Amino acid sequence: MVAVDNLVTGSRANVAHLVDNAAFTLLERDVSQPLQIDGPVDFVLHFASPASPIDFPSMPIQIVKVGTLGTYHMLGLALAKGAAFLLASTSEVYGDPLVHPQPESYWGNVNPIGPRGCYDEAKRCAEAFTMAYNRAHGVDTRIMRIFNTYGSRMRTDDGRVIPNYFRQALTGEPMTVYGDGSQTRSLCHVDDLVTGALAVLDGPDPMPFNIGSQEEVTMLELATIVKRVTGSSSEIVFGPLPEDDPKQRRPDTTRAREILGWEPTISMEEGLARACDYFESALSVKR
Ligand SMILES: NC(=O)c1ccc[n+]([C@@H]2O[C@H](COP(=O)([O-])OP(=O)(O)OC[C@H]3O[C@@H](n4cnc5c(N)ncnc54)[C@H](O)[C@@H]3O)[C@@H](O)[C@H]2O)c1
Repeated sequence: MVAVDNLVTGSRANVAHLVDNAAFTLLERDVSQPLQIDGPVDFVLHFASPASPIDFPSMPIQIVKVGTLGTYHMLGLALAKGAAFLLASTSEVYGDPLVHPQPESYWGNVNPIGPRGCYDEAKRCAEAFTMAYNRAHGVDTRIMRIFNTYGSRMRTDDGRVIPNYFRQALTGEPMTVYGDGSQTRSLCHVDDLVTGALAVLDGPDPMPFNIGSQEEVTMLELATIVKRVTGSSSEIVFGPLPEDDPKQRRPDTTRAREILGWEPTISMEEGLARACDYFESALSVKR
């Protein structure tokens, strides 16, 4: 296995357990640049992209490039090697959705020129590139639209709600809920996401699959659950809602269930308990 990563948001520590494995190579490269890989390649899994809203203002051009040029180069690699290709797309292709929950047939409500446009539109372009290579060159492509996912090896300061709440709760800082906290997300544990990715790759269909959890929670409820799971005495405070923050998010995963037989199996309570262990160790704090 060759992992290609320019480490812009990733880290060597995340693959430290793999470096002694002779079957694993980490290639520190930017996939927005052309890339040659020696030898046969069976699968190209294109997951490279900064993914947290905290990255959007500081690296919008890199984000547009990796979604567009990066996808183009990875599709070119798959074509040259006769490999199957999987695109890690996103629920952000639905923008601030006017349909709830979101089925794959919904075309979305995206602001192309807002602060999230660099990410949302790059992923929409990535999907268009993927379907173009499937139709024009017969590349064996798959698209998964990932909904909010969390778990081990997340950056503790990446600005997404789970790292924010755990960091604040475990270090005794106030827990910041944006707006009135009534906006919802459905959060999928990374272990379920991985089985979902493999199911999409094994599946028969190049059209997109939503992969995520159906268990929807308001951001205020989530703060209280994290507070309970961590046994924290942090107070919950309210801050301004970020621009273009989607009000609700829940995937319709009927396609994944009926065609791939995939469903998440890890409840939110169980997933958050596992996440708590990880954040405790990553932040070197003791409860
Ligand atoms: N975590 C989520 O909730 C979520 C939701 C929807 C979609 N996704 C998608 O899943 C993928 C992985 O997300 P993640 O949450 O694990 O984020 P992550 O930041 O942990 O992983 C992304 C990796 O891509 C690397 N990268 C970024 N730009 C690159 C480039 N130009 N060349 C090579 N490597 C590059 C980063 O260094 C990092 O290691 C992303 O494509 C993201 O858009 C994630």
